[in-house]
Amino acid sequence: MERIDKVISEQLSGISRKDARAMIRAGEVAINGRTASDPAQKTDPGLDEITVAGKRLFYREHLYIMLNKPAGVVCATRDRLSETVLGLLPEELRREGLFPAGRLDRDTVGFVLITDDGELAHRILSPRSHVPKRYFVRLSDDIPPGAAERFREGIEIDGGEMCLPAEMEQTSERECFLTLHEGKYHQVKRMFAALGSSVEYLKRTEIAGIRLDERLSEGECRELAPDELERLMNA
Ligand code: URA
Repeated sequence: MERIDKVISEQLSGISRKDARAMIRAGEVAINGRTASDPAQKTDPGLDEITVAGKRLFYREHLYIMLNKPAGVVCATRDRLSETVLGLLPEELRREGLFPAGRLDRDTVGFVLITDDGELAHRILSPRSHVPKRYFVRLSDDIPPGAAERFREGIEIDGGEMCLPAEMEQTSERECFLTLHEGKYHQVKRMFAALGSSVEYLKRTEIAGIRLDERLSEGECRELAPDELERLMNA
């Protein structure tokens, strides 16, 4: 059970605890059809029907957001110079504690998962998790012969680091999909650099078997659907 003023300020962006108290005192908040007049009133937000100014509050303990990241935006919670992925979220999806679970380079586009569920993020990001991530890659030149085998065997990248086996599916002379089971710094670019190639365009298209929604234009986002969330939880 939680205080109603706390639930409202945590769930609704732009509403402070003080605002929530004022709304409650003004009679704008109801719990299961009864006006709540005391900000300290306890509620079970997962079970109770809460309305604020007549609108139903859909309680979610955590948010899980799929964002199609454009180039030029950084995967950070704040940055002095550049726009961040959090800055792209619409008002109704803004909340304290959100962060990108995993990073894409500034010039990489595609699927970024944004959440406030630290436990899940830790599982996805942990070096031992091996959650698959799929990328669409376009090189500046043709893909060198033998690339798929080198990646399948586990390629050594600069600095002597070994990569786990990765699957490459070539779709044209210069283009392929690459699935990784780990997330080293600049990994895709460094794997191709180890073959003497340079990545011209990079897009993450899947995380844990969840596909980036093609209906999302760059810069757009949506919450994960229940089946996608289940996949993520079981990843
Ligand atoms: N690999 C890279 O090189 N860059 C990314 O942004 C993601 C994977």
